[in-house]
Amino acid sequence: MAILKIARMGHPVLLQRAEPVADPTAPEIHRLVHDMVETMEDAGGAGLAAPQVHVPLRLFVFRVAEARRSGDADDRAVGNTVVINPGIEPLDDDIRLRWEGCLSIPGLRAVVPRHWRIRYRGVDAEGAPVGGEVTGFHAGVVQHENDHLDGILYPMRMTDFRLFGFHEELERAGAQAAGGRS
Ligand code: NI
Repeated sequence: MAILKIARMGHPVLLQRAEPVADPTAPEIHRLVHDMVETMEDAGGAGLAAPQVHVPLRLFVFRVAEARRSGDADDRAVGNTVVINPGIEPLDDDIRLRWEGCLSIPGLRAVVPRHWRIRYRGVDAEGAPVGGEVTGFHAGVVQHENDHLDGILYPMRMTDFRLFGFHEELERAGAQAAGGRS
């Protein structure tokens, strides 16, 4: 196990399209997933994508704490979850604004439009299927992580730059910067 170095915005690995994982059950993928979970927990994040640890492969880890959930039943809390070679589709046109942060953009938060309801699928490091239909925070973090695999960082999705700032300043100003960092 190891804490990995997290790439920060400006590093080219965060802007490239990641490659599919050829064998999700390979020992080196197991090791990477373990290290990514440990790194996410160490950083206090809600999610972490492989390109954020300088590995341009299509996989991410995330978790949804009970306290983060919206009231929505499909905004399911989950423990540490890995999604390898993910696919995502929105379930309708309901797009809502959510506060987000990113471990590659430390200290900052912004409001980002995301689909409220999505279906996603992938496999875990045992090759077993993962995913389902989810909403709210759960859907938002999955979209944020999946974006990392396409070289997209949340500022590239922003529509209102007034809702962008340092977490400490936003808290002082009373803004509801409740999103996770991922
Ligand atoms: Ni991120």
